[in-house]
Amino acid sequence: MQEKVGIGIIGCGHMARTHARILAHLPEAYLRGFADLREEAAQRLRAEVDGEYATTDVARLLEDEGIDVVLICTHHDSHRPLCIQAAQAGKHVFVEKPLTLSIEDCQEVERAVEGAGVKLMVGFQARFSPFSQKLKEVIPRPLVTVGQLVDPRWGDEIWANDPVEGGGNVLSQGCHAFDLVCWFNDSEPVTIYAEGGNFTHPQLPITDSVVATIRFANGSVASVIIGDFGANPFTGKAFYELFDGTKTGTMYGYYSEPALRFWGTDLETYTVADLPPERRDRWGAHGYVDMMRALLAWVGRDVDPVVAAQAKEGTRATALGVKAIEAIKTGQPQAL
Ligand SMILES: NC(=O)c1ccc[n+]([C@@H]2O[C@H](COP(=O)([O-])OP(=O)(O)OC[C@H]3O[C@@H](n4cnc5c(N)ncnc54)[C@H](O)[C@@H]3O)[C@@H](O)[C@H]2O)c1
Repeated sequence: MQEKVGIGIIGCGHMARTHARILAHLPEAYLRGFADLREEAAQRLRAEVDGEYATTDVARLLEDEGIDVVLICTHHDSHRPLCIQAAQAGKHVFVEKPLTLSIEDCQEVERAVEGAGVKLMVGFQARFSPFSQKLKEVIPRPLVTVGQLVDPRWGDEIWANDPVEGGGNVLSQGCHAFDLVCWFNDSEPVTIYAEGGNFTHPQLPITDSVVATIRFANGSVASVIIGDFGANPFTGKAFYELFDGTKTGTMYGYYSEPALRFWGTDLETYTVADLPPERRDRWGAHGYVDMMRALLAWVGRDVDPVVAAQAKEGTRATALGVKAIEAIKTGQPQAL
């Protein structure tokens, strides 16, 4: 029988709960250690998914030989130090997005992971959604891509809007859109230009709104809109549109009821009803379950996680956000 993968979770809040509840149903996962600065959060999650122990001491997880991989689900300013500590302790790492908030910090994590010879996956679950997968399958070589990730206005006081702890909407959440357009295009971005700035939080030192144009090495282009300046009742929060000259594919409603519509292909629509029953719930349709399965297979059986974002792609998504902000400040296109 295959050995179980020992899991440690660092940061036991909202996102950790999603991952832990999914892992609790996967027979190859062994939920072992739960660490949080807030003891009650670690205790609560441990109890909910029947884990082994809860602690406020991250070192206890990193020294635990029963843990193969740690899931880092903390706020963004702690991703760099925690990833590096985990790698140096010989643990494989799953880190929630964004990898870190700066290119330099991401590169430091890359070096630590490479130096320690451990694996690192970044939590870009949208790649694993059966809707993203189908869109990529039908339009594998887009010429023009549109990506839009737009929320109603975020509260000023939420941690993700803190310039140090979260980075603001563009870095915090926009990394999903930057990652996904790169993945759809299957090509490296070479330049980015952007306009935008601080539209909805004038009292905070963050960039909350971006309209960016990206050119890829293969000549294709993408337009990406990110912010918290409203809501689109037709497309929902996340909207992606791929054109290849003869076919068009659109993905909408990703955060509510995901669906695809096509033009120029045999397939016209693809909805939750087209999924196998076990993938129809929110976690299946959004890609979270398949991402955790890929993590367990990678750590436990060395199965190449072809769909997953690894450290370099985490750096790339952060770099696109950072360079978009730089383009807004300078008025100049930025090279990647
Ligand atoms: N992929 C997605 O769809 C998605 C959605 C939401 C959030 N996220 C990401 O998940 C991560 C966590 O966000 P959240 O919404 O779960 O936040 P949260 O505030 O609900 O939970 C974070 C937890 O981390 C703990 N923590 C903070 N610093 C710590 C440290 N140094 N050591 C141990 N514990 C620490 C906090 O006490 C808190 O319990 C972020 O990277 C966020 O961007 C991803």
